[in-house]
Amino acid sequence: MPLTSKVAIVTGGGEGIGRAIVKRFAQEGAQVVIAEIEPTGQQVAQQLNEQGLKALFLQTDVAKAKDRNNLVRTTLDHFGHIDILVNNAGIYFPRSVFEMTQADWTKMMSVNLDAVFFLSQLAAQAMKEQGGGRIINVASVNSWLGMPLSSHYNAAKGGVAQITRCLAVELAPYNILVNAVAPGFIKTRMAIVDGVDETETEFFKTFYCDHRRIPLGRAGLPEEVASAVYFLASDDCQYITGHLLVVDGGLSITF
Ligand SMILES: NC(=O)c1ccc[n+]([C@@H]2O[C@H](COP(=O)([O-])OP(=O)(O)OC[C@H]3O[C@@H](n4cnc5c(N)ncnc54)[C@H](O)[C@@H]3O)[C@@H](O)[C@H]2O)c1
Repeated sequence: MPLTSKVAIVTGGGEGIGRAIVKRFAQEGAQVVIAEIEPTGQQVAQQLNEQGLKALFLQTDVAKAKDRNNLVRTTLDHFGHIDILVNNAGIYFPRSVFEMTQADWTKMMSVNLDAVFFLSQLAAQAMKEQGGGRIINVASVNSWLGMPLSSHYNAAKGGVAQITRCLAVELAPYNILVNAVAPGFIKTRMAIVDGVDETETEFFKTFYCDHRRIPLGRAGLPEEVASAVYFLASDDCQYITGHLLVVDGGLSITF
């Protein structure tokens, strides 16, 4: 199997896109470490272990330096190397420009931006010593598009795109490839805002699907993002670094 003998850390692997990435990596033979704040990570690990696949849950709040250090140290103690890091964990909550507090802003940045950089820093150190590796960040079409109530989220995702490019340049001499995926509308818990699944509303179905504002006429599935992440982690990806692979059904190439 293509990822046999690879050790991969996936943050936020208990739900949604992260869970799909964990499953795909495990099916391709990797030893996956699920770094998840919720106990859902344990359920995913157990389910995969019962299928004979290799997954380990380490309860981790990526926003906490202590947890990030523990995650990397424990992974290295167990397996001796880290081949792939996927910075997927993320949060979203809407805030208007008038209601945004410093605490709102800091909370968003600590999970969606700071953790991406500082966990990459720790993993890159191990990858440098072992002669190479892959870092894959989950950005968003919000990395460059504007959206109301989302200045904190979009600023963080814009930062993730820039971290991807800067680390790609800086870590290239160490054979560390750094790329990102940029999903559009994906059917996960994050699509549910204030109790409403935005991919199930009449407006979404009419405007985005029937009128083809999304050219492929539907929301995406977590597994479809996982396929793109898997490609960036695989040996088929050799001469690509600093790239944002857009997974949005064409949403961002039309108007
Ligand atoms: N769903 C979409 O439409 C969409 C679009 C573009 C980008 N994204 C990005 O994809 C990534 C995954 O989102 P999703 O849609 O699967 O959402 P989700 O809410 O289904 O999953 C996010 C996971 O991250 C975990 N998490 C949150 N905070 C954490 C923390 N501090 N430490 C560790 N784990 C934490 C959650 O518990 C959850 O398991 C996020 O970075 C998100 O911004 C999602």
